[in-house]
Amino acid sequence: MSLQDKTVLIGITGGIAAYKICELIRKFQKAGAKTRVVCTPNALNFVTKLTLQNLSKNQVFVDEFNPKDWKPEHISFADEADIMVIAPATANTISKIANGIADNLLTSIACAFSKQIIIAPAMNCNMWQNIAVQENISKLKSRGVEFLEPETGFLACGYSGKGRLCSIDKIFNAAVESLNFSQKLAGKNVVITSGGTIEEIDPVRYISNYSSGKMGFALANSAKKMGANVTLITTKPIEAPFKTVKVKSAIQMQNALDEEFETADIIIMAAAVADYRVKNYSEQKLKKTSEDEITLQLVKNPDILKELCQKRGDRKKIIAGFCAESENLVENAKEKIAKKGCDFLVANDISRKDIGFSSDDNEVTILDKNGGIKKLEKASKSVIATKILEHIANE
Ligand code: C5P
Repeated sequence: MSLQDKTVLIGITGGIAAYKICELIRKFQKAGAKTRVVCTPNALNFVTKLTLQNLSKNQVFVDEFNPKDWKPEHISFADEADIMVIAPATANTISKIANGIADNLLTSIACAFSKQIIIAPAMNCNMWQNIAVQENISKLKSRGVEFLEPETGFLACGYSGKGRLCSIDKIFNAAVESLNFSQKLAGKNVVITSGGTIEEIDPVRYISNYSSGKMGFALANSAKKMGANVTLITTKPIEAPFKTVKVKSAIQMQNALDEEFETADIIIMAAAVADYRVKNYSEQKLKKTSEDEITLQLVKNPDILKELCQKRGDRKKIIAGFCAESENLVENAKEKIAKKGCDFLVANDISRKDIGFSSDDNEVTILDKNGGIKKLEKASKSVIATKILEHIANE
């Protein structure tokens, strides 16, 4: 894999695994990348500047206040690199970056970095499990930072548990994959829906479903990485590096989609939309009555996907839907794609417990309007999302 015209910025923080990064720098060098190394002051307790300098064939920077140029280093490094890889990343540095703290050269660069950041944490297992650290990791993930989970095993501190830096190959491969991410959606307006709609009964009760919104969120993240201008219409609160529109009900989702429809090039309906809503919403909380049974009347929601496909006419927009089936996956999906009139339908088998709702993994079958069928083997929702988008973008 050639990285000939790429610049990789490697950030090293103060953990014992810092010595392993020498091998990572060599791998990037061998692949032809230009490597730039920035260390926190503590990193140099574990590995020498001279070693890193020789391996990276570049001066190694630690100090923020030692400019060689008119442009401050943290800005010029951030501008010139195609990717930033922070490994090993300590709990301290992760937490600082998550909170916008920029108190050394490495954290200042991370603060100014607008391209992909990959973080490979390494720390004591109790630090890894610390709630504040985990919250900071979630925050960064939601902003598009890629985390390479530490491994479980014997730790330098004498403990055994989760916290060991993942393999150097894994870090290298993740960076290569990210650098070669296809830009097939560059400039496209992609609108994605996610989560289960919420149909209110009264101010305290509602009808909804188990959709976690993870698949839609993964699609939005991947579309962003592929260069798209993303709008995520979601029922789940989410901090994201793209435009989000928060909705509750199917009707609100339809209105939000109508707003985006004209400018959208691609619409992907990954949301689980309720087929029915409550007929008479009660402004006041419904009281318990003396009756043993009560009846809640429901009315049909619009089939948003079908209506969007009708509204599109012969305009050049790609529209994809999702369907959840508990039996006869492909047969039911074939019927549905014809009924809805969309270009693609991504079919999920919800009878399986290891994929789908709330899971981080999925396995899907993509049908297209011309009868094509493509099965995507089980993988993380993020990998599945990228494959779905590449399939759609090839249309
Ligand atoms: O008919 P079914 O609910 O299985 O279709 C699922 C697809 O249709 C999903 O893409 C979902 O977002 C969409 N849908 C919709 N409006 C509804 C129900 C589902 O757009 N009322």
